[in-house]
Amino acid sequence: MKLTIQRGQTPETFTLQATKAVTLLSALYEIKSKLDPTLTFGAGCRSGVCGSCAVLVNGKEKLACSYTYQDNDLIEPLRYHPVLRDLKVDKTQAHDTIKKVVAKPLVFTKIPTPEDESKTKRQTDCILCDSCYSACPVLAVNPDFLGPFALTKAWRYVAEGGSPQGGASTIEAIQHNGIWDCTLCGECTIVCPQGIDPKTDIMMLRGESGKAGYSDPNFAVQDFGTPDFGGGFDPNIGF
Ligand code: SF4
Ligand code: SF4
Ligand code: FES
Repeated sequence: MKLTIQRGQTPETFTLQATKAVTLLSALYEIKSKLDPTLTFGAGCRSGVCGSCAVLVNGKEKLACSYTYQDNDLIEPLRYHPVLRDLKVDKTQAHDTIKKVVAKPLVFTKIPTPEDESKTKRQTDCILCDSCYSACPVLAVNPDFLGPFALTKAWRYVAEGGSPQGGASTIEAIQHNGIWDCTLCGECTIVCPQGIDPKTDIMMLRGESGKAGYSDPNFAVQDFGTPDFGGGFDPNIGF
């Protein structure tokens, strides 16, 4: 079985003596122990809990500890993160997006009811693997976009009645480089290993923003041109 790993600018192919299907993470450990001790990658729990092993496999985000690798797979580091070495990336900048939407200490403007909490139960399972962030096409053109997992967290606090202490509210904080910049493509939802749905959370935040008096700033500057009803339609003639 061959595995190609992007190391800096150079792809390097390793041959493994696999006798049974193993996870990608096990294969990376095998390469490190038998073929190249300098190979660097993120890993922790080995059981899909810590979120530290996410990588790109043939261009798609996967947790290395959950994915069974295939012959000739190409493994690369996550997108939009500074690469520290090989597959290991620096997640600091990406995780700082959470601070922008949820300042601490968090002050709850009301005590969340069990019903409030049930709306966001799934979101609490986020393991900060950054797969959604890596899959989001908006970050390719706007590195300041808050990104899916921060917006999912924002929805959690809005739905539960939380509000940052002092300064702008969470709803205010997501207006710029936030919910209106999302294209609703759903890539974040597709790749999430925890079944979280950031796209829907962003749509919910748009609804809450509308109720708070905000609107899509892109919509305000769109030019729809002069209406053309075609076919000689005369709006003065009644039906
Ligand atoms: S739905 Fe929005 S946040 Fe999710 S990947 Fe697409 S553009 Fe990014
Ligand atoms: S929302 Fe899902 S894909 Fe995004 S960081 Fe959390 S667990 Fe990972
Ligand atoms: S090693 Fe923890 S999620 Fe993969």
